[in-house]
Amino acid sequence: MSYQFAERIGNLQPSPTIAVSDKVRELQQQGHDVIDLGGGDPDFATPKHICEAASEALFAGDTHYVASAGIPELRQAIVRKLKADNGIDVEANGIIVTPGGKSALISSVLALVGPGDDVLTFDPGWVSYEPMATIAGANTVHVGLDAADNYRITREAIEQHITPKTRLMIVNSPNNPSGRVLTEDEVDAVCSAARDHDVIVFSDEIYEKIVYDGNVHISIAAQPGMAERTLTHNGFSKAYAMTGWRLGYVAGPVDIIKQVMKIHSHSVTCATSFAQRGAVAALNGPQQFIDEMVEAWDRRRHMIVHGLNQIPGFHCPMPEGAFYALADVSGTGKDGSEVARILIDEARVGVTPGIAFGDASSNHIRMSFANSDALVEESVKRMQAAFS
Ligand SMILES: Cc1ncc(COP(=O)(O)O)c(C=O)c1O
Repeated sequence: MSYQFAERIGNLQPSPTIAVSDKVRELQQQGHDVIDLGGGDPDFATPKHICEAASEALFAGDTHYVASAGIPELRQAIVRKLKADNGIDVEANGIIVTPGGKSALISSVLALVGPGDDVLTFDPGWVSYEPMATIAGANTVHVGLDAADNYRITREAIEQHITPKTRLMIVNSPNNPSGRVLTEDEVDAVCSAARDHDVIVFSDEIYEKIVYDGNVHISIAAQPGMAERTLTHNGFSKAYAMTGWRLGYVAGPVDIIKQVMKIHSHSVTCATSFAQRGAVAALNGPQQFIDEMVEAWDRRRHMIVHGLNQIPGFHCPMPEGAFYALADVSGTGKDGSEVARILIDEARVGVTPGIAFGDASSNHIRMSFANSDALVEESVKRMQAAFS
């Protein structure tokens, strides 16, 4: 039987980062010893007090539908967190708790843009922004950033790409895949362009807690005149090692959130009831655990960057945040896709080809160092052996 599909599905490809993990799993099932540096999953267990809070709720019968926007205790905890950590003032009604940060992003995209609208994204950038805009029927305009300029966002670069049709700009700091943390000047460039051109900003802050070397995360919604035009996207996956729990949120002006709620309530109803109890414990409980994870990732960051820079033809800048190394491999005479293929086939190390994050990183490969010291060390050895 031949099936017909909606036009919007035509150009969509499955997530390339998930494809790398699938390929690694397939090879592992065939008995191969493969290291997966493709995914973005913290290698730590969710802290015990978070698990206990969810488990208690589960056994106490908290297994039914809850308020679509999220349980009041969690929305209140998020209000407090946004004020204390980010300097963002938002009401509880301006928050929706979603099954993962991804769900918050797509519901917001669907609520705000459609055919005829331009969505501005920065390359290299996360793999799902463009597909989300495509699903909404909107057009993605890529602002290609220059590796030689440390992927700096400038007002000029934005001006060159912004059009009267631009409705939305998506910013992600700390950045996946480049590891850049936006400076005050870059944040100013984004905010002034958004205000002058009357554009909404999505600030994806999912890696906000993972910063190194004294870099400081700046929240867009806390900047002058930005609260009314910014949706802050965040979640529990990275900071609390809760990827499998599927919990995220979006926060912003009540008038926008009301519209996002229509998509959210008709598509997911609510995020998992007892998982939300775990998220309350995550936000209200001890935060020390995050520092310990970041300390470990900091160590592995040095390990992997140092190791990669010893490979002839590889050049890897030191990431400022998140847990990815983005290496330029053009010195090998090969592009990122070819190097990624060699690494999985010959070195048995799964990495993501840079092209997955846009043309600006086609000569790059991305590696997650959210893996144990031993695995990071072994993967570096294997990559060095494959390219020496
Ligand atoms: C930049 C960025 N935003 C959002 C997400 C979504 O995270 P989740 O849906 O697990 O909360 C990810 C996950 O890798 C990400 O890298």
